[in-house]
Amino acid sequence: MALELCVTESYEALSLRAAEVIGDEIARSPNIVVLAATGRTPLQAYKHLGDACDSAAFDTTRMTVVQLDEYVGVAADDRRALIGWSKRVLIDPLHVDDGRVVSFHGADGDPEERCRTYDATIKARGGVDLAILGLGPNGHLGFNEPPSRPSDTTRIVRLTEASIESNASYWGSVDDVPTHAMTAGMDVILAARRILLLVSGSHKREILRRTLDGEATPDVPASYLREAANVTVIADRDAWPGDDLETTAAAETAIDVLA
Ligand code: GLP
Repeated sequence: MALELCVTESYEALSLRAAEVIGDEIARSPNIVVLAATGRTPLQAYKHLGDACDSAAFDTTRMTVVQLDEYVGVAADDRRALIGWSKRVLIDPLHVDDGRVVSFHGADGDPEERCRTYDATIKARGGVDLAILGLGPNGHLGFNEPPSRPSDTTRIVRLTEASIESNASYWGSVDDVPTHAMTAGMDVILAARRILLLVSGSHKREILRRTLDGEATPDVPASYLREAANVTVIADRDAWPGDDLETTAAAETAIDVLA
């Protein structure tokens, strides 16, 4: 197990640290395949990454961006399309062209078939080098809703009420949130050569504690990150369960506290 915990004083410090880690990975391996979450947490990190790209800190002409999840029944040009969100905040600022984007829209066919094509495309590109993840309020990764196990593959899932509620804040109301999504499988995520989990805000504190504490369980899919090879958790002070954390996970990890 190699889990590194990094606690920052603020969301801004978390974002700067995350952008630095991601930028260093791109600089080190320009052919990198990056699986990237949408959601609010990574937004400021992506902003800093775009700025670093503009100042030529690294070369993005050979990198690939892989979409983490997408709603079923939502076209690529729908305002709610997660691929559109990803393009606005990450893909375009990094000048990654369409040929280097792996999405659930990359193939025609029904959602089931798209999942298979998505997996095959990732495999053909050598797998994921870096996964940038947020933490769902119910412990989901991508849309691997509880219960999810490490062997769960890329698939269509029915969204839980908790996810529909949290996603409603992105699009207006619960009625705007589709009922189903396609998600990168737990197997794809956990096989990433490096994983970065970003967690911000006091509303994530309890689920972060459950992610790091006790036995890994399908009820908190993110808890399986403790069994993955190379994971860095960057949490801001508000999200950090701190003294409440008793786990072996915490005891065996390097905890780095940043200003
Ligand atoms: C969403 C997405 C995830 C995202 C997570 C956290 O529902 N499916 O990919 O990482 O929940 O979102 P946020 O960063 O907005 O809290």
